[in-house]
Amino acid sequence: MPPLARLPTHPAVERRRPIDPADSRDVALYDELPLWSALAGQLLLEHVTLASRRSVLDLGCGTGFPLLELAERLGRGAHVVGLDPWAGALARARSKIDRWCVPNASIARGNGAAMPFEDGAFDLVVSNLGLNNFEDAEGALRECRRVLQPGGILGLSSNLVGHMREWYAAFARVLEAAGDRAGLERLRSHEAHRATVPSLGARLEAAGFRVTLVRECQAVMRFANAEALLEHHFIRMGFRPAWEEIAGEESLAAVALELDRTAGESGLSLTVPLAYLEAVPA
Ligand SMILES: C[S@@+](CC[C@H](N)C(=O)[O-])C[C@H]1O[C@@H](n2cnc3c(N)ncnc32)[C@H](O)[C@@H]1O
Repeated sequence: MPPLARLPTHPAVERRRPIDPADSRDVALYDELPLWSALAGQLLLEHVTLASRRSVLDLGCGTGFPLLELAERLGRGAHVVGLDPWAGALARARSKIDRWCVPNASIARGNGAAMPFEDGAFDLVVSNLGLNNFEDAEGALRECRRVLQPGGILGLSSNLVGHMREWYAAFARVLEAAGDRAGLERLRSHEAHRATVPSLGARLEAAGFRVTLVRECQAVMRFANAEALLEHHFIRMGFRPAWEEIAGEESLAAVALELDRTAGESGLSLTVPLAYLEAVPA
């Protein structure tokens, strides 16, 4: 595979290091609203049932999204709690609650599969790009069922199979051309781990929910070229390590060349299909 020879040599690039989720300086920069969380968060905020909601849980709230947004949109008649095991992110969410003076938001540290809340504590539980990333999503869904009141609503957003399909198609072409069958196998199973609307629905039903609302959209992430994509800090943090595990760092250089070759004059457009589902206890 050709190396990514076009990487710029620049002092800032030389200083790059892995992003450390335990380092507060890195956590403070995690507020990924423009690029990532906001893609799904907009869909969630557009459709989530707000009327008559008084007691809300944001499961996997990270640095405070949509925890604070929901607390402010619901106003003082409601209280929103964020739950997450990530101490550094919660410290960041706490500082937003304090600095923005949002009295109806609070945080709790814990695991969604063993929540520190009483039965029926909430009338709305939301999770933005959260539950689909949990190790024990089934356990967390069972807990959602337990902590929801009768008539309560669970609202989940997730990216779907087909996520960045242009990147994965170029990746597959490169592996095919190299005859790397094992790499292709790893690529296919990596792509297939993402949810579909039917698989999300089946998961919810298996946990004792009935789906009441499905909304889908296709977000688009644009880059001038594949090098810019691979160098973007959030891509380096959230996606590149998994891509490197599939076929090694050098194969990414070949994928980048392949992607640029097929991208056309207007640069890269990567499709991100997203869904928001609401469900009630069946
Ligand atoms: C992709 S981030 C989404 C964060 C935030 N909701 C947002 O939209 O920016 C996934 C979050 O789920 C949290 N998480 C992972 N496992 C969890 C679990 N078992 N229980 C609760 N939260 C968990 C992570 O710490 C992380 O903050």
